[in-house]
Amino acid sequence: MRCLDKTIAFVPTMGYLHEGHLSLIRQGRKIGDCLVVSIFVNPIQFAPGEDFEDYPRDLEKDLVLAMKNGVDVVFTPYDKELYSNGFQTDVNLKKLPNHLCGISRPTFFSGVATVVAKLFNIVKPHFAIFGKKDYQQLAIIRQMVSDLNFDIEIIGSETLREHDGLAMSSRNIYLTSEQRNSALCLYKSLQKAQVLLSNGINDSEKIINTALEIIKSHTDIEIDYIAICDPQTLIDMKKIDGPALMALAVKVGKTRLIDNAILNL
Ligand code: PAF
Repeated sequence: MRCLDKTIAFVPTMGYLHEGHLSLIRQGRKIGDCLVVSIFVNPIQFAPGEDFEDYPRDLEKDLVLAMKNGVDVVFTPYDKELYSNGFQTDVNLKKLPNHLCGISRPTFFSGVATVVAKLFNIVKPHFAIFGKKDYQQLAIIRQMVSDLNFDIEIIGSETLREHDGLAMSSRNIYLTSEQRNSALCLYKSLQKAQVLLSNGINDSEKIINTALEIIKSHTDIEIDYIAICDPQTLIDMKKIDGPALMALAVKVGKTRLIDNAILNL
């Protein structure tokens, strides 16, 4: 495609496509002459004991959805094709992974950056599209692309939500209806945070405490973190004096969910 002077748009995924992925795919369809989607549940971004084996998969359905949404190429490599026996290179960033999800998942972002670098080298896209729900992932990929001089424009796409505000995620399928109800407290906490800030409360601790109260009222939720931080560096902000990222990660039952929003003064 590159030698035909055509542009390639790329949407990397782990499959089990939902509306959130489809919105990235539709965006890709608009910006590239050729649209490539990868479906690969990347083993190296799961730590032992995480849900690699159980991660939801449905390749047949994904292929139908890809075809219906105008995808030209679906790339579905086998584990062995990407990670041969002698594989020994990791992509590690020095700072951005040391915050938020990287604290409880210390090998996760190295797994993500490594596979995304490999996929970029294989697909050779001009544009790559990632969801803003995985805010830290997007920040890390942008940094990697800049640091390693990939000639790729990274596009961040807004989080798609269910009618009641739950951020779309392949893992939502694990939730029972009660757990799904409890999970709504993530979005409610983000909304409440913006209300507090708009009412002049700019002390992060106060806003985080309110979110803690909302979330802790659900006994089936275990909090990993609630943070308010600088959207570029991901370093905690004590006082909100400009745009701030509020990010949350919890476990509802066994299901890990994340969400985030930019809080504006
Ligand atoms: O966000 C995801 O689905 C994955 O982390 C990605 C970017 C496809 C890498 O495996």
